[in-house]
Amino acid sequence: MGCVKSIVFALALVINPIACFAQDVLRGHGGPVRALAVRGEARELISGSFDNTVIVWDLDRSLAKRVLRFHDGPVNAVAVLPGGCLASGGDDRRIAIWCGNADKPARVLDGHDAPVTALTEVAGDLVSGSFDGTVRTWDYLGTRTPSISASHKGAVSAIAKLLRLEGRSAGLTTGGADGTLTIAFQTSYERMVLEAPVTALAVAADEIIAACSDGQLRFISPGLKISALEVDQIPLASLAVSPDGKLIATAGLRGGIAIIDRASRKIIHRLTGPGLPVWSLAFDADNRTLISGGADRVIRRWDAIAGTALTSNLPERDLVAEAAASGERGAVVFRACQACHTLSPDGGNRAGPTLHGVFGRRIGTAPGYGYSAALPAMQIVWGKDTIARLFEVGPTAYTPGTKMPEQTITDPADRTALVDWLERVTAGQK
Ligand code: HEC
Repeated sequence: MGCVKSIVFALALVINPIACFAQDVLRGHGGPVRALAVRGEARELISGSFDNTVIVWDLDRSLAKRVLRFHDGPVNAVAVLPGGCLASGGDDRRIAIWCGNADKPARVLDGHDAPVTALTEVAGDLVSGSFDGTVRTWDYLGTRTPSISASHKGAVSAIAKLLRLEGRSAGLTTGGADGTLTIAFQTSYERMVLEAPVTALAVAADEIIAACSDGQLRFISPGLKISALEVDQIPLASLAVSPDGKLIATAGLRGGIAIIDRASRKIIHRLTGPGLPVWSLAFDADNRTLISGGADRVIRRWDAIAGTALTSNLPERDLVAEAAASGERGAVVFRACQACHTLSPDGGNRAGPTLHGVFGRRIGTAPGYGYSAALPAMQIVWGKDTIARLFEVGPTAYTPGTKMPEQTITDPADRTALVDWLERVTAGQK
């Protein structure tokens, strides 16, 4: 496989300097990836981004299955819910509940007075935290009115579900920008003072782990004892614990990802590479694969035990890879589209409609694809000029109401290379 230069999107904050990195990446978001959650049994990854969208990925095939676009601002938190549903919370203060394959929310939860920053499922309810300082518990598909507690002075930055702590049943723990942590036991409530704002929380068997803005991890262990581990000099922004509780991953806003052996409290690896800063982390169900979302808009995978980047397992037989390897610029540009669109007659629809036969096709008319309501009503016919224009001004401006994540291709030569190549590879027998 040849070296691939990333395309420069308008929203790009960081341009990946290591162009030859063959890491297994999921491309699709048009902004930093702020939140990640794994739905293990379905082999799905849910990601939320500053591009206002949520993407549901097929982890095994490295493809985007669905794009969920509803929020009017960055998506800060996502959570997996029972019964095939998931939740997303945004800067727009709203929480959307998505169920099944629908691309409209089954329910919208309004109430927070500031951006929603944390979401967790606890005992069949959804618990949300916000910059408004409150924690709300929602019967998210039912009729019970939400319960509201004013938990922190300042933002509630993290919430995690607890089953037992100190031999007692417990419900949840919250962490705040006020440097405190709360623990809700069944009949009592504890508030603990950590010396720095909490940015993320995770729970392992018998302890709570808090990532803090002074670069330290804090452990709340049996006896409610607090101990600290210095990981970095700068704020830690993200945190994840492997499902078996053995490994902890945390990342700061400038540094790489630190992997910590929980039992010994030792940092066993520091992973560095493109994609910094890392905004979100999650472990896959195998207790070994770590997934990170970063400022460069892509999602990366790492072997947390070996301390290495996972390289691509995508079959290289594929048309796009071959054309890109032989220096075909249009195919290189198309890598940004590949997770969501197929090109061949038998490729079918992914998160986006197939582009097979797209030249001369009216917008919103690929068979069997569930378009946003706005698209079929538009008068656009796809051709070189219209597709180039779509990525010159961006999908939101050119096709308002679309769910395609916002992205632009700023270099006119790249737009021309893309449409020239697309015209060739999407034509032919249907
Ligand atoms: C994260 C997924 C995703 C990525 C990445 C993506 N698209 Fe899309 N695209 C979509 C979705 C979803 C739609 C359907 C929009 C709707 O119904 O609102 C779409 C629609 C389209 C359409 C209109 C198709 C029609 O039948 O009317 C074109 C053309 C298109 N995309 C081209 C591209 C190209 C070229 C790229 C790469 C530069 C790209 N897309 C990247 C998800 C994506």
